[in-house]
Amino acid sequence: MLQGKRILLIIGGGIAAYKALELIRQIKREGGEVTPVLTRAAEQFVTPLSASALAGAKVYTHLFDLTDEAEMGHIELSRSADLVVVAPATADLMAKMATGQADDLASTLLLATDTPVLVAPAMNVRMWLHPSNQRNIATLQADGIHRVGPNEGDMACGEFGPGRMAEPSEIYSEIKALLADGPLAGRHVIVTSGPTHEPIDPVRYLANRSSGQQGSAIATALAGLGAQVTFVTGPASAPPPLGVTVVKVETARDMLDAVTSALPADAAVFAAAVADWRMSEAAAEKIKKAKGEAPPALSLIENPDILATISQMKDGRPALVVGFAAETENVVENATKKRVRKSCDWIVANDVSPETGIMGGSENAVTLINKEGAESWPRSSKDDVARQLAHRIAEALG
Ligand code: CTP
Repeated sequence: MLQGKRILLIIGGGIAAYKALELIRQIKREGGEVTPVLTRAAEQFVTPLSASALAGAKVYTHLFDLTDEAEMGHIELSRSADLVVVAPATADLMAKMATGQADDLASTLLLATDTPVLVAPAMNVRMWLHPSNQRNIATLQADGIHRVGPNEGDMACGEFGPGRMAEPSEIYSEIKALLADGPLAGRHVIVTSGPTHEPIDPVRYLANRSSGQQGSAIATALAGLGAQVTFVTGPASAPPPLGVTVVKVETARDMLDAVTSALPADAAVFAAAVADWRMSEAAAEKIKKAKGEAPPALSLIENPDILATISQMKDGRPALVVGFAAETENVVENATKKRVRKSCDWIVANDVSPETGIMGGSENAVTLINKEGAESWPRSSKDDVARQLAHRIAEALG
């Protein structure tokens, strides 16, 4: 939550400016206050009226307005915020920041401020990679300016590469991490969640019944304690939580790649129900059934074990690695062995026999297993289990 936090949002002139409107909505939804400032170029992409309506606040534009100055001078405006966010941060705006130019309201505010600044760059890939832009980025980094993105992908200009502005949810997650209070402030935690889908052919896949509810609840609880959370999720039915960086994946191999790319982390919680096997070779075309022929035999191979891979890392292992154990019999005994086999610090064991209604249901009954022993928690909602686990993680990280 951003209750009572004030954000000065400088919107630069780029096609990604429309995403800044969604960012305003997210900040507002979480209780933060936003004062938007639009550059002259930004007004070509979004209107001051949209920004003002969504922020529920006065909007400042490139003009130095005498009335505005009388109400709140630009120096005060730049300093009354808890955080200044520049999104999209164009090459031009960042060049001004790097060289200390102040020729309009936005650049003047950026030069006058003494509050932390977060930039979300957005530009064409060639512009991003240009040595002069890279020099400016290095200067801003040395000046202690925080940065989120840019991401790599298809761009509005038709090219591909780094330069896309980070998604509003990613920018929001960074804002929260910078402003967070709470025992996990400044900590990065990775959470995996949901099932994975392993293709059989272009239309069929192997999967399981995980809804992703428990993983979503854990990510929400950790973010609630101030953690910066990277939420790596398979195709789950539960909506991803707000205020976390969401990475959507399909297969176990994608999930392992996403987790590895998200490192370093202080802790990692592996709540995903990863498919243990995949097709040794997925068919490139839809498998047809021919009359009188036997059904196709599915030849399976084992997927990488993400939890074990991360737990057994020699360098860069998160200080606390938490796995889950979905069991249908001898829950504590099997889970205790699983913890040792996978080399994780804790295992959250649960009984997923159909009669418990846990898989896909809203409640959970878990036993927390660590090297000292096993501790059973009373059956409660998945949200409660998540909150309890998040508190234990905060205590363990100290
Ligand atoms: N896990 C993983 N990668 C896999 C399989 C499991 O990261 N390929 C993680 C899960 O996210 C969970 C833990 O390992 O945290 C245990 O998952 P579970 O399905 O209970 O165990 P399995 O290794 O699949 O063992 P088994 O099916 O034999 O019980």
